[in-house]
Amino acid sequence: MRIVKSASLMQKIALEHIKNGDEIGLVPTMGALHDGHASLIARSEKNDDITIVSIFVNPTQFGPKEDYLKYPRTVKEDLEICKENHVDYVFMPSVNDMFPAEHKTFIEVKILQDILCGKFRQDHFRGVVTVVAKLFNISCADRSYFGMKDFQQLKIVERMVKDLNFKIKIIPCPIIREKSGLAISSRNSYLSAKEKKSSENISRILREASEDFKTKNLSFVKRSALNKLKKIPGSKIDYAEIVNFSDLSFADKNTEKAVFAVAIWIGKTRLIDNFVMLKQTQNI
Ligand code: PAF
Repeated sequence: MRIVKSASLMQKIALEHIKNGDEIGLVPTMGALHDGHASLIARSEKNDDITIVSIFVNPTQFGPKEDYLKYPRTVKEDLEICKENHVDYVFMPSVNDMFPAEHKTFIEVKILQDILCGKFRQDHFRGVVTVVAKLFNISCADRSYFGMKDFQQLKIVERMVKDLNFKIKIIPCPIIREKSGLAISSRNSYLSAKEKKSSENISRILREASEDFKTKNLSFVKRSALNKLKKIPGSKIDYAEIVNFSDLSFADKNTEKAVFAVAIWIGKTRLIDNFVMLKQTQNI
């Protein structure tokens, strides 16, 4: 496993691999790696000749009052996980290399960037898609792996790839959950034991909603889930919305495949989670 810290060197290495006929997989991360990331790496290991994991805590996707400085940085452990999972390259650029003072270009994915999390995290997705586009170009990857926990991020990246004619293929990967159902996230490390217990209710409530969605009407499903979410000790809901799986538009009575997406504060930690929901007649 090789650690590469410069964007231009990473691109040069990637181009050499392409010349040799290798297919490259990219797993973009902000570090603090966990089993969710390991599952993305495993998918790349299966599909690609070369796996690149990028570790970059991207300042442009954090708002001024958000947790950029506090975001968990666990480089030593991350490198161990990459090594154990047979990663070929870990790309760890500096902020100055990715966003030097003269950097002027940002990508926006209209509408999709302004709903759900975008309502509460202004400019977040602009920062995400810009860094993701840069990582695609630097890694010259054929495939890139995104977890479905960040469902809005996945849909926005897919849209950007289509709209800007990137040739990379986006591979969505299932949410990895703890035994309790809690979606694994780097931010779970902020939770106290008591808050973690509270957080475990989120996935249970979403699972129950997905059962209700099979047979019951939309307003019942939403109302019932909202009532339960509000009762989680220490919780404050940013949003709890049922949207169409395909384009994140609000679901209606004709929606067959939906996503129940939530962002909820438990104490000082903002957690997101979602469940895909299907009407009775559909199979996943
Ligand atoms: O999902 C993340 O960890 C980040 O948003 C990503 C895709 C690595 C971009 O910084």
